[in-house]
Order: sequence, then structure tokens, then C-alpha cells
Amino acid sequence: MNKEHIKVYSDGNTGVIELHRPKAANALNRRMVDEIVEQMEAFDRDKTIRVIVVKGNSKAFAAGADIEEMMEDSPLSLEFTNPFAVWDKMMLIKKPMIAAVNGFALGGGFELALHCDLIVAAEDAKFGFPEVNLGVMPGAGGTQLLTKAMGRAKALEWIWLGQPMDAQEAKHYGVINRVVAPELVEEEALRLAEQLSEQAPVSLRLIKEAVHEAVNTPLQDGLTLERKNFYLAFASQDQKEGMKAFTEKRRPSFKGV
Ligand code: CAA
Repeated sequence: MNKEHIKVYSDGNTGVIELHRPKAANALNRRMVDEIVEQMEAFDRDKTIRVIVVKGNSKAFAAGADIEEMMEDSPLSLEFTNPFAVWDKMMLIKKPMIAAVNGFALGGGFELALHCDLIVAAEDAKFGFPEVNLGVMPGAGGTQLLTKAMGRAKALEWIWLGQPMDAQEAKHYGVINRVVAPELVEEEALRLAEQLSEQAPVSLRLIKEAVHEAVNTPLQDGLTLERKNFYLAFASQDQKEGMKAFTEKRRPSFKGV
């Protein structure tokens, strides 16, 4: 597949995936997610690569799923095309994955970071799930991964309110690993990747599997429920209003139907 929305390069033993849709704040359309997953799998197979880093640009890691692509979806179109199924493949990547976050990591962008094993963020980075403001909910793992990372009460408050959280707060709740100055994010992520590259690859792989097992059982059930509910939200007028209001750059008026 020719890459349209990502740039790919390596730095020593680190494979870097740079999200590249700058005009849309790196919003993740379906082709872009396919490209990201395909590249993660390619790096996972590549014997010269030991660690994978996913990064955005200085303004946005990724501003979520592409709202314009999604706004005409219906529960049945989502059920039949199942656009979030490809995200499950990220869970199968065996090598360590680090998200390097500058700027916004919102909705699907935050979910992409949460699918990585470690997150290094700029002190002015913003993390959040604004889906509630669009009349929907996270659908690519957010409710499950965030709750496992920070606990039920805080995750509910955060996802319900749909407001961004800054990097220090996200670190305080154990959602992210390191906070550095914006200009040092990539350097710090690559430094961490290099450190991991020097560890025994088989140990890293076995440790990743064991730690994920501890956290994730039975994650798949939760992901399936979340996906169904996300698709169901597209039965509501609130979804249509929320996404229409976004594209018209106005506040939505929700009716609860
Ligand atoms: N989908 C499509 N386009 C998007 C987008 C998205 N998620 N986020 C930003 N864009 C586009 C904007 O429409 C704008 O395009 P134009 O220049 O053509 O108007 C461009 O990117 C730049 O965005 P802004 O002008 O809004 O830039 P800003 O700096 O003022 O704000 C922002 C940045 C806070 C990220 C704001 O764009 C925003 O709130 N974006 C939407 C975030 C969101 O709701 N994400 C959740 C999506 S749903 C989801 O992710 C479901 C899931 O679980 C998978």
C-alpha cells in the first residue's frame, strides 16, 4: 500500500511512524488507520527494528477519528464495515510501542496513544475524549483502555465531561509515562526507545505479553460492547446534530433522541 497519510523512517533500531495529515490536525480517516496498522505490523516483522515510535506534529498528535468521514454513517453501515475492527491488530504487536505526543491527542488520537505501551508527552499536550460533544462516545477502545489505566471514577468523569486533560494531570493518574518540554518530546521518546533496544528482545516481548495479560483480561468483551454502543449512537439525532455542528463550526443543540 502506498502511504498517503503517514511518513515512515527508522532511527537506529527504532521504527518511526509519523502521522501526516497536517491540514486536518492529523484526524484519523480509515485509510490512515489502515496505513498505521500495516506499518506497525511491518516493523513488528522487521528484524532490524526493536522498538516502534508513533508521533504526530508539533500541534497535533491526532485530533480523533475523521468526523467528516464518519458523519453520514448509520448503525448498519458501521456494523457491516466494522471500521474499528482493524484496531484489534494493534493489540497484537509484540514489540514495545511508544507514543510521542505533542499538542492534541483527542478521541481516536488518544485511543491510538493508549494502544501504545508507553506515552511521552509535551508539558502543553492535551488528552481527551470529546466524543460526548458530538453526540457519540469513544469507539476505538477509549472507555476500556482509559478505565484500566486510571480507574472507573476518574475515567467516567473525564469521558462524560469531554474536556481535555493536561499532561501533568494525565501523568498523575498514571495514564502517561513522561512529561517533557515540547521541543524534547521526540528526543525523549527516541532515547527511551534506544534504552529499550538495548534490553533483551525476547524478555521485552514476554514481559509485554504478561503485563498485558494482567491488565487486559477480559478486554475483548469490553471492546466488543463499546463498539456496539458506538455504532448504536449513530441511530440518534444527537450524533447527526453533533457532527453537523462541528462542520458548521457552531455549538450543538442536543435533544436526547
Ligand atoms: N475530524 C475531521 N476534521 C478535523 C478533526 C476531526 N476529528 N479535527 C480537526 N479537524 C479539522 C478541522 O475541521 C479544520 O479543518 P478546516 O481547516 O478545513 O476547517 C482543521 O482540522 C484544523 O482544525 P481547527 O481549525 O479546529 O484547529 P484548532 O486548533 O482551532 O482546534 C482541535 C483543534 C481542538 C483539535 C479541534 O479541531 C477539534 O476539536 N477537533 C475535533 C476533536 C474531536 O471531536 N475528536 C473526536 C472525534 S470522534 C472519535 O474520535 C471517535 C472514536 O472514538 C474513534
